[in-house]
Amino acid sequence: MSGLFLLSERALSLKPSATVAVTSRALELRRQGVDVISMSVGEPDFDTPDHVKAAAIAAIESGKTKYTAVNGIPELREAISAKFARENGLSYAPDAVTVTSGGKQALFNAFFALLNPGDEVLIPAPYWVSYPEMVALTGAVPVAVPTSPESGFLLDPDELEARVTPRTRMIVLNSPGNPTGAVFPPEVLRAVAAVAQRHDLVIVTDEMYEHLVYDAEQVSIGLYAPEHTLTINGASKAYAMTGWRIGYAGGPKGVIAAMNALQSQSTSNASSVSQYATLAALSDQAHTAAFVDMARAAYRERRDRIVSGLNGLGLRTPTPQGAFYVMADTTPIHPDELEAARRILDDARVAVVPGTDFAAPGQVRLSYATSMTNIEEVLRRIGGLLG
Ligand SMILES: Cc1ncc(COP(=O)(O)O)c(C=O)c1O
Repeated sequence: MSGLFLLSERALSLKPSATVAVTSRALELRRQGVDVISMSVGEPDFDTPDHVKAAAIAAIESGKTKYTAVNGIPELREAISAKFARENGLSYAPDAVTVTSGGKQALFNAFFALLNPGDEVLIPAPYWVSYPEMVALTGAVPVAVPTSPESGFLLDPDELEARVTPRTRMIVLNSPGNPTGAVFPPEVLRAVAAVAQRHDLVIVTDEMYEHLVYDAEQVSIGLYAPEHTLTINGASKAYAMTGWRIGYAGGPKGVIAAMNALQSQSTSNASSVSQYATLAALSDQAHTAAFVDMARAAYRERRDRIVSGLNGLGLRTPTPQGAFYVMADTTPIHPDELEAARRILDDARVAVVPGTDFAAPGQVRLSYATSMTNIEEVLRRIGGLLG
């Protein structure tokens, strides 16, 4: 583009997504009336629980529809502080907590509050695409730390430490992880915490999927290096609240204050109604636990079916311990994952996400946040493609 509306260097630096072509093709097929099953969505297929909806309706009816404090209503920050203590063993006082518009904004604010141009940030790969993009927007440099399907995508702390340089400033962790579903066990987290302590690094840990863990133990790394850790979480995945846009962070008060300052000059408070809804999710523990247990049991059953189904078709798929994604090796369909995803879409009418943007060559991601009926049909269709 030239002339008056020349785009900024920042805007131009955003990497075009390699998956856009597949997504556009899926939309185009749908428009033509083709019945495409989507295995590409990153959100629960369950509805938001009723007690949460009721709290939001009550908030609207009682006029809780105005600006709130930038960092969130005090009741919610207290509930988050209590949640961190109760469920994670972490001690973040209410003024060491901030409420954001989704987990994404908490991460964005954290990176902008902490990173300078040229700083290096270690990110285990395959990774959620927004980490390197957000880090690069600050002018810092994302550095991938590879993990492999053979090890179930477990991070090797020695591989991590081998990439530390004098410019390294931060480690980003995401366990349970998107896209791999890997859950890092306590001994790995302990070793990563020791790396952070040895080299004076900040740990930003994204625990959005903490409740969706099947056979593993979910532990917060903040337990092992509290003085190094900023913990990010939110309502989206745990309580099927993606559209409500509530995330939060707990960390050192100075960092939280800087995140609040950034937010005060950009979006201000997260939606007041959504804050009251999240307060109900965190406070009405009995109803919330019943919902989370129901969702977890359903995801586990679906995970078991899709993992055994894909492996049975000859597409090697490790069993993930958490989240609601699997990574399948699609090299039997085509060595290039973009071409494999295109064939799965065109010939099997199933939308999947190629691993290209996640640093996962030869693999595609399937989300099993969908019905068992869809999963069976997807396996049948992909089976037809291979057969
Ligand atoms: C690992 C991870 N972190 C954060 C988010 C963002 O969550 P939110 O929708 O609350 O912004 C996502 C959403 O896909 C995610 O997968």
